[in-house]
Amino acid sequence: MSDWQPDSWRSKPILQQPKYDDLNHLSDVEKRLHSYPPVVFAAEARQLFSQLANVSQGKGFLLQGGDCAESFAEFNAPKIRDTFKVLLQMAIVLTYAGKCPVTKVARMAGQYAKPRSGDFETIDGVSLPSYRGDIINSFEFTEAARRPDPERMIEAYNRSASTLNLLRAFAQGGLADLHEVNRWNMAFVENNPLKERYQDMAKSLHDALEFMSVVGINAENHAELRETTLFTSHEALLLNYEQALTRKDTMTGNWYNCSAHMLWIGERTRQLDHAHVEFFRGIHNPIGIKIGPSMQEDELIRLIDAVNPNNIPGRLTLITRMGADNLADNLPRLLRRVKQEGRHVVWSSDPMHGNTISASSGYKTRNFDAILREIQQFFQVHRAEGTHAGGIHLEMTGQHVTECTGGAYQISDDDLAECYQTQCDPRLNADQVLEMAFLVADHLKA
Ligand code: PEP
Ligand code: CO
Repeated sequence: MSDWQPDSWRSKPILQQPKYDDLNHLSDVEKRLHSYPPVVFAAEARQLFSQLANVSQGKGFLLQGGDCAESFAEFNAPKIRDTFKVLLQMAIVLTYAGKCPVTKVARMAGQYAKPRSGDFETIDGVSLPSYRGDIINSFEFTEAARRPDPERMIEAYNRSASTLNLLRAFAQGGLADLHEVNRWNMAFVENNPLKERYQDMAKSLHDALEFMSVVGINAENHAELRETTLFTSHEALLLNYEQALTRKDTMTGNWYNCSAHMLWIGERTRQLDHAHVEFFRGIHNPIGIKIGPSMQEDELIRLIDAVNPNNIPGRLTLITRMGADNLADNLPRLLRRVKQEGRHVVWSSDPMHGNTISASSGYKTRNFDAILREIQQFFQVHRAEGTHAGGIHLEMTGQHVTECTGGAYQISDDDLAECYQTQCDPRLNADQVLEMAFLVADHLKA
């Protein structure tokens, strides 16, 4: 790794980046960011690393989820709290009904940069630069709003730090107490068609907690019952920002990207000889790479070896996003080859990004059945190949949005307009996440 530096990515080709007008301003912002405290601590990233090492060996499950794009406008405590709750609720269903330890990683506290399919967006004959996430420009369709502003990186840093501060408070300050979770879940599922199934599970969890309390194990003397650990993650797309938060850990002498515990490379920027792979190979965080249906076996092995040359379990999570109609044709050949070559990875399923469609109403949407079908096939294929289906990666929110069609409430194309709030891709709402949780739990148990 002697030829790697936090800035060695700068000499490589790079895709999906903004074009800033004022490069002096950009470099001034990078310097300021570099002088700020890190958002996370390297030892926490190592803790996640070791949990993921267990997952890669079949001893656990990774639950990763949150907004497609966090938004400066929707930055408030209830929103953070509700997404935290629904993530935790899903984790409890998976842990208890699926009988499996769950590593929880939020797509929060830094998920501000977005790759786009086109550089420009055209509305009524007017073309403007695409929205690239709030860390870069603004969603509003005006020339001024779409101009990339480096100052937004400082804003993203501040919002990430304050989001993480609240998540830590929730995780350790009592909101995650299992007795409490059991209570708020009840109100939460009041109108859900899965209410009975959920209540059965909640009741047996309650009985288990009561039994433990009788034998002297309670929230006062066992922190595990009142606290949880929630890690953070985002797509490390804007490397100017990511480099500025990359620090040498004083305990190990290794470089860590301290903008989040886990970072991933998107499907559009994972070229072997490009900047993102170069940057990622030198940071010691656990990392993810998105893998679409076009990925070839040889290319995958080369990519794995580029970022994890010592084949360390926990280092690399491959997040497959094939699409329900493409998974069966493409995932088995990749699983077989990685297994045959003895590479240690966590296999996680992103059932969202291969199943995006345009509704007749014009909204970008995803159908719940297609999402479920991709997850089901993900588990089936892993079972057939003798590999571990290690996790899921969801775009989801605790709000009651109408962005994905289907699910128990049968959201239709016409319903999408009712509460369509995402600034980027359509997310599962709280009810759809709960429904998904039970399905995944059944697979985990099997
Ligand atoms: C995303 O996770 O929001 C995303 C853009 O995914 P992908 O890189 O898989 O397209
Ligand atoms: Co997305």
